Amino acid sequence: MKDNSNTTHDAEDDPRNKDIKIYINGEIVPRNEARVSVYDSGFMLGDGMWEGMRLYNCKWAFFDEHMDRLFDSCKAVSIDIGMDRAGILDALTRTAAANDMTHDVHCRLMITRGVKVKPFQHPALSQSGPTIVIIMEHSKPATHLQAKGISLATVPQVRGLPMSQDAKYNSHSKLNCIIACLQAEQAGADEALMLDPHGFVNTTNACNFFIVRKGEVWTSTGDYCMNGVTRQKVIDLCRANNIPVYEKNYSLVDTYGASEAFLTGTFGAQTPVSQIDGKKIGDHDGMGPVTARIRELYKELVERNTQG
Ligand SMILES: Cc1ncc(COP(=O)(O)O)c(C=O)c1O
Repeated sequence: MKDNSNTTHDAEDDPRNKDIKIYINGEIVPRNEARVSVYDSGFMLGDGMWEGMRLYNCKWAFFDEHMDRLFDSCKAVSIDIGMDRAGILDALTRTAAANDMTHDVHCRLMITRGVKVKPFQHPALSQSGPTIVIIMEHSKPATHLQAKGISLATVPQVRGLPMSQDAKYNSHSKLNCIIACLQAEQAGADEALMLDPHGFVNTTNACNFFIVRKGEVWTSTGDYCMNGVTRQKVIDLCRANNIPVYEKNYSLVDTYGASEAFLTGTFGAQTPVSQIDGKKIGDHDGMGPVTARIRELYKELVERNTQG
């Protein structure tokens, strides 16, 4: 990685994260003792699903929306989680308590098809039930990104059609996105701007992507990108607050000429984009006014969602 690169998952350094405890199938163990089998389908094949969530005031923001996506995608690939939403909430609550975590926490909840009896692809070889892992970290997104913004490069790797590997799977295997990220890095940018199979602007390798043109907020149709919880919240907030918002096809010409661009994701909420393919976006430094307004509306929404 180049020395001065940013990622959308940059967090303020927190030394407490060296000593976190991790949940593995009901056990909560110190970080350096947390292990899964080399026969695990997640390790061997990327055969699993995950969710990234944030904890504020002892409440998981938009828990139901994250569970909707997790349960839908596990059902689609026949992974039996072996517990319901209440069971997952209980596991999260136990892990947070073991870590004494209540606020400004990010978790990665991972469900794989589980340990296989032989090192081959067939899903029937996973015979002992899923592997469930929860990693929680103290996490505040790095503030320098809000001031500076992130740089993107358009890359050859696309997010494909739903009948190859649907972009809506939050799968353990992120190779498609990792290839895109490597291509962006090699082009000197922080992260990748990915097109859809028709060449329209689609998403980044780790977040959803929006532009602002003449006060209107545009994002892709949603057909070829992650059905991001934050993406949907931003669209809903725009609609509720009379900010014109469109899910539509648009190209790089529209994108380079945008007055603002920003990314959305649970980790960083809204992150401004400063340049794309070496072209500066807008004529402001840091975050543009529409992005700033949406970020404020989103912050208030998270506060309401995680009250009491
Ligand atoms: C490829 C990709 N796009 C977008 C997102 C953002 O989704 P969310 O807003 O639900 O965190 C994620 C997060 O997992 C992702 O992996």
